[in-house]
Amino acid sequence: MNEITTSSMAGKIMLVGIGPGSVEHMTLRARAAIAEADVVIGYVTYIKLVADLLEGKEVVRKGMTEELDRAVSALKQARLGKKVALISSGDAGVYGMAGPTYEVLFQAGWTPDDAVAVEIVPGASAINACASRVGAPLTHDFCSISLSDLLTPWPTIARRLDAAAAADFVVALYNPKSGRRTRQIVEAQRLFLRHRRADTPVAVVKSAYRRRERIEFTTLDRMSECDIGMLTTVLIGNSNTVIQHGLMVTPRGYANKYDLAEGGSTRAGERAGRSLSTGLLGWLENLRADHAAGMTFEALAAEHRLPLDYIRVTLTEPLEAAAADAPEEAQTQVESEV
Ligand SMILES: C[S@@+](CC[C@H](N)C(=O)[O-])C[C@H]1O[C@@H](n2cnc3c(N)ncnc32)[C@H](O)[C@@H]1O
Repeated sequence: MNEITTSSMAGKIMLVGIGPGSVEHMTLRARAAIAEADVVIGYVTYIKLVADLLEGKEVVRKGMTEELDRAVSALKQARLGKKVALISSGDAGVYGMAGPTYEVLFQAGWTPDDAVAVEIVPGASAINACASRVGAPLTHDFCSISLSDLLTPWPTIARRLDAAAAADFVVALYNPKSGRRTRQIVEAQRLFLRHRRADTPVAVVKSAYRRRERIEFTTLDRMSECDIGMLTTVLIGNSNTVIQHGLMVTPRGYANKYDLAEGGSTRAGERAGRSLSTGLLGWLENLRADHAAGMTFEALAAEHRLPLDYIRVTLTEPLEAAAADAPEEAQTQVESEV
């Protein structure tokens, strides 16, 4: 590592997210970054995806597990004054090269004032790419969980799966299965089925925007029987997600805010820019009424599936305190949810 901390020539590391795999879905900046690079470093498969941009460049092809090695090579080359494009599929900051690269940089004593500049070029991650191929599954709260237990202990992954399933997030499973890791997807399914209905919609998207793209719709109870591999992302819907006309769609809201059958008008009592009656303030009012009518903290916590101490503090805090904390401007602001 000393060798790469001592030289002082300026260079640049560009962490380039090349998108899901097709040229059309690579950003202009990603293409320009690769074009201006002297050296392009990446996993062999990703290097193939940008083959048309590599003429006249030094190309360093690395194996899949050589992430730190890729970052160390990039810093060495940048210290020699070169512009280095370190490429990741999707977005470099989503299970990509940005993290390992900063780890190597920090370890080498690099700071943002260093002669070596760092630029992160964002790209469309697999979650965006796969969602776009199946409909609109991410229109409500979602999260991603990687099933790779190579660097993360399984209990950590399992706890996240359990929490996300219980919290009704739409979930994208990255790294769901490989030749050696075949049981993780079965365990994930088992954890999800503890909280979600067996017929919860699932989309299994393989190689989105690549030559061998394959999309399969299924349900949670059949998910692990699908053809899933290293290049698959599994999208699990929430309790509101539907598959209709071959499209997986998650409605924007949980309450039936809009009555499309009646000309698309908002329901009586639910006005644009206002929280729902089941939003925070309406909920607080109902909570207080139920408590005043004799419901215990315990019963309310169980009914709303919220921690007991949260319910207790909420009900013992003076009614006006929370609202009074908000600046006047914020209290009158009209919100848009789109
Ligand atoms: C190490 S992660 C890299 C993620 C990448 N940085 C991104 O933002 O998409 C590799 C995983 O991403 C997902 N993935 C990447 N490209 C994909 C594609 N074209 N189609 C479906 N899933 C993809 C798969 O779950 C794969 O196992």
